[in-house]
Amino acid sequence: MALSQLIARETQAFLETHPKSAAQASALKQHWLFGAPFHWMNDWAAPIVAEDGDGAVLTDIDDNTYDDFCLGDTPGMFGHGRPEIARAIAEQARRGATFMLPTAEAADVGALLAARFGLPLWQTTLSASDANRALIRWARAVTGKAVIVVFDGCYHGMVEDCFVELRHGRTRPDAGLIGQVFDMTRTTRAVPFNDIGALEGALAQGDVAAVLAEPAMTNCGMILPEEHFWKRAQALAKKAGALLILDETHTLSCGPGGATQAWDLAPDALVIGKAIAGGFPAAIWGVSAELGHKIQSWTAGASPANTVSTSTTVAGEGAGGPRTGRSGIGTTLAGNAMGIAAIGATLRELATPEAYAAMLAGAETLVGKLRDVIAKRALPWCVVHVGARAEIVFAPAPPKDAAAMRPALAQTELNHVLHLYLMNRGVLIAPFHMMMLVSPVTTAQQIDRLVAAVDSFAAEYLQESAA
Ligand SMILES: Cc1ncc(COP(=O)(O)O)c(C=O)c1O
Repeated sequence: MALSQLIARETQAFLETHPKSAAQASALKQHWLFGAPFHWMNDWAAPIVAEDGDGAVLTDIDDNTYDDFCLGDTPGMFGHGRPEIARAIAEQARRGATFMLPTAEAADVGALLAARFGLPLWQTTLSASDANRALIRWARAVTGKAVIVVFDGCYHGMVEDCFVELRHGRTRPDAGLIGQVFDMTRTTRAVPFNDIGALEGALAQGDVAAVLAEPAMTNCGMILPEEHFWKRAQALAKKAGALLILDETHTLSCGPGGATQAWDLAPDALVIGKAIAGGFPAAIWGVSAELGHKIQSWTAGASPANTVSTSTTVAGEGAGGPRTGRSGIGTTLAGNAMGIAAIGATLRELATPEAYAAMLAGAETLVGKLRDVIAKRALPWCVVHVGARAEIVFAPAPPKDAAAMRPALAQTELNHVLHLYLMNRGVLIAPFHMMMLVSPVTTAQQIDRLVAAVDSFAAEYLQESAA
């Protein structure tokens, strides 16, 4: 059977088992731009409309159930519909959702964050995008430098500064970015991941405010840091006077304290979104005592670094006295009482050492079994594994940077049909690429069903390739 026939067969099978989702998809087109409340919801291989989430099981409105390894693309990492979160937000909602005031719970949550992630001072936002944006701004303000360095293939949310890519050794605006009128390449430099020489070069001019990175890249396939990469990268950033901001939004799956604690990293600042409030919309960013002091001094007007002093960008006001006017950092609902309650419940009751032990063991099992399938079928694929996350990569060995990963990501037809095939067999993985996340409530049977579906797909795919 040709690949196109396989796609046609799977599409037909999907339509037959999802009539209500199809009807609802038409209704959604009436009043939602792009036919959904948020356009990424269209990125699935076929439309489903959710009815219910319970642990690692999702049910759609046609009563199909799925083993959910997407988990909302991570916010549901600890499982859907967890009673601990439902209780925390319901109790707070009854007493008021948001006051523009801290609640007593906020002091406890701050202490929990500090103890867990090793940085003493924290702020909340509604999304990881907002947290990254805030930290980039603070980094520029307190260092007085304009440039940020990111790794080619990065994604840090809806943060314009990061929408660049490396082409022929030069930083270029990401071709897909909509409505951008500023030339980010003047203030953002992209370097290949795992390339210490390139990082050193990017930092050499001494104009870098911050290096912003995921500890392991998870948005361009998954790419692991090579041994000693972070040790050297941290030392280079420090020497150049650039802050190191680690975005742990996805690598929180590595352990209770994220990759930072699991791998003994030493960032100046951390960002964690998505799962940090058990699926409730909240994110956090934290800073070292030194950076926190600089930020608070800057706000009070005492810091000398009050102007971003490159020829490319000038911001800030004259020295002396508390700063007035609008900082441009913050949104009204940030730090709302429900979000704080949800973060507290997540840290105390969901993101426990026991939960991580289960997630990490489940992911080990999943990765081992997927690798067995790949070996048994002699597929030119590999599996990259970071904590409770795993990714099938359509390349024989794990790529070490985005340039090496791109050919694997370009296999869009294969990506599409594998997703569709899995959906037809009751398995969801992240719609954007081949990412699978194991929650503490994911069962061994769910892992086996995912592996069996990949195996039977591989058999059919290989038959088709041989034909
Ligand atoms: C590493 C990383 N940082 C930040 C974000 C942005 O998160 P949000 O879309 O919740 O703002 C994402 C989203 O995928 C991400 O993967």
